[in-house]
Formats: sequence, structure tokens, C-alpha cells
Amino acid sequence: MASPIAAQAFRQRLAPNLIKTSKTTLTSAKSHANPELLHGAIALLNPTVQPPFKAIRHLFDHLRANPTAASALNNAYPKRGIFKSAAIKNGIADQKFTIDLSPARDSLISEATRASLASYGLNDVISFFNNTAENHVSTILSQLGKVSSIDLSQVHKDLNMNFRLCDYNPLTANPTSSNGCGEHTDYGTFSIIFQDGTPGLEIEAPHAPGTWIEIPGDATVVLAGWCAFILTGGRVCAVRHRVRRIPGVRRLSAVLFVAPDLEVKLKPLTEFTNVEFSKEIIGGEVNVSWFKDVMGKRWRRREGNLEVAERDEGIFSQDDEIRRLVLGA
Ligand SMILES: [Fe+2]
Repeated sequence: MASPIAAQAFRQRLAPNLIKTSKTTLTSAKSHANPELLHGAIALLNPTVQPPFKAIRHLFDHLRANPTAASALNNAYPKRGIFKSAAIKNGIADQKFTIDLSPARDSLISEATRASLASYGLNDVISFFNNTAENHVSTILSQLGKVSSIDLSQVHKDLNMNFRLCDYNPLTANPTSSNGCGEHTDYGTFSIIFQDGTPGLEIEAPHAPGTWIEIPGDATVVLAGWCAFILTGGRVCAVRHRVRRIPGVRRLSAVLFVAPDLEVKLKPLTEFTNVEFSKEIIGGEVNVSWFKDVMGKRWRRREGNLEVAERDEGIFSQDDEIRRLVLGA
């Protein structure tokens, strides 16, 4: 059972050491000498641009009601599709719909499809993500670099980003399920989670596994992922999170994911690490592209979007297995 907390309590509990910039507030610590102080890579962001939730709602409603429009959008990225709606039929998977965009996928959408979806919010959504990237990504990257004393800009030259919209809609195969998004840790460097005011996002307390903290529905949160954990030698922790659904209540969110450049070897950028990594990680045997692919299979299984042919390929099914790959234990 998660413990509900007010916004102020959340700030005190999960972000005891704050560095404030003009736009960003990051959980921080004064020195990497004490690893405890560097744990809790949680940020509360005061965004310069708010998500266009009205447009996001329209876009989901339109794609769900118009399979032809959904197919046209998915044809821009046939490998995985863009609009994911497995929860309509699959009651065990995460009970949500998603729209997965990125700068690369955006460029693949035909002019005709773009024009047909413009009045349903697609352009507003892409503008929002581009503005957010411009206003916040380098600042957050720089702050993570400061709190870990590691220059992360050297492995983020390509601005490897993904944009995700989530619709925790009551009209799924399992309307009474509380599972909106199963517990997981993001693969990349950090993620910015925007919410529409509806609670549901929960974070596992970094130093108390199994203790889930409810995040206020109006908070914009920055979480670090596995890549940040590895590159900083464990100085920034990867944060597990999940979304609990309130039956009958619709919740929308927008997430911007930032990851290292795809060819980067996932190994600590320092010889002074806080944890002991596996020989695969220390040996530089894992690169970002491979790691993303492996993690992606696990996500798609949880979200019900894994194709039948892929089911036997993925060797990872739980965070514990990822942890074994990274830490070797
Ligand atoms: Fe996540």
C-alpha cells in the first residue's frame, strides 16, 4: 500500500537536498564523497511549457475511434507502431494506451497524415515536446553532471530522445484493474513526467525497497534511469516507479525520455564507483543501443505490445534480471 503524501511532504522526503536553478530543482548533494547524499535522483521541475492535455485527450479519442487514422499514423513507423492500444483486448497488460513519438519518428510522418491529425492535436503535442527539450534537457543534464561530478554531455551529443503520451483510460479490457503501469525503472539517463493533475504515479523510496510514495498529480517529476546509474558509477540512482489506476478515472501524462547516444558503451565514466558493476558493464560489452533493445522487449511484454514472434527472444522479464546484468549479482 502506498503512503499518500502532500506535495510539500514529498519535497521534504524525497528531495532533502535541493539545487535550485532558474528553471529546475534537482535532488542533489554537495559531494560525491558520501554516496547516501547522491541517492534519490528525483527532481521537481517547474516547466516553462505546460502539456496541451486538451489536445492530448483529443488525439487519443480520435485515434481510438478511427482505426484508419491510427493505421495511417502507425504506418510512419511500421516496426513498432506509434499508437499502442493492446489494453483494449489484453486485461493483464498495463491498462493504458500510448502514443510513442520521437524527433526521428516525427520526421517519418507523411504530410497528409500530419495534416489530417493537426486539428486533433498532433502539432501541439510535438511543439510541446520540442519546447520542453529546448528549455530543460541541457539544464537537467548539466545538473545531473554536477551532482555526480561527471560530465554527461560527452555521451549526449546526439540528443537521443523519445516522447510518450499515456492515456490511463477506464475503457480498457480490465476496467477495474488498478494496474496502469507496472513497476519498472526507465532505461535511459532521465525522464521528465508531466501529469494532468490526477494522482496515480508512485515512486519506490530509494532507500526503502517496497515502500511506494504517491506523487501529487500536479507535480512534474524528473527521474533517473539505468543509464544514469551506470555512467555515474552509481552516484545517481535509477528510480523504480509505477502508475496505479483509479477505476473509472481517466488520467493523462506526457513523458520525455533522454538517453545517451546509441553507440555509447554503457560503463562508468569514473573509476571511483559507489557500487560494484558486472564484468560485462566494466568491460564495456554493453552499448546503449543493445541495452535499449533488451529493455524495450521487456516493456512491450508488460504493455502487451510484444509481437508473438518476439516473445521467446527476450531474456529479461523483471527488474531483478536487469540488475543482475548491471551489477552481476
Ligand atoms: Fe517509466
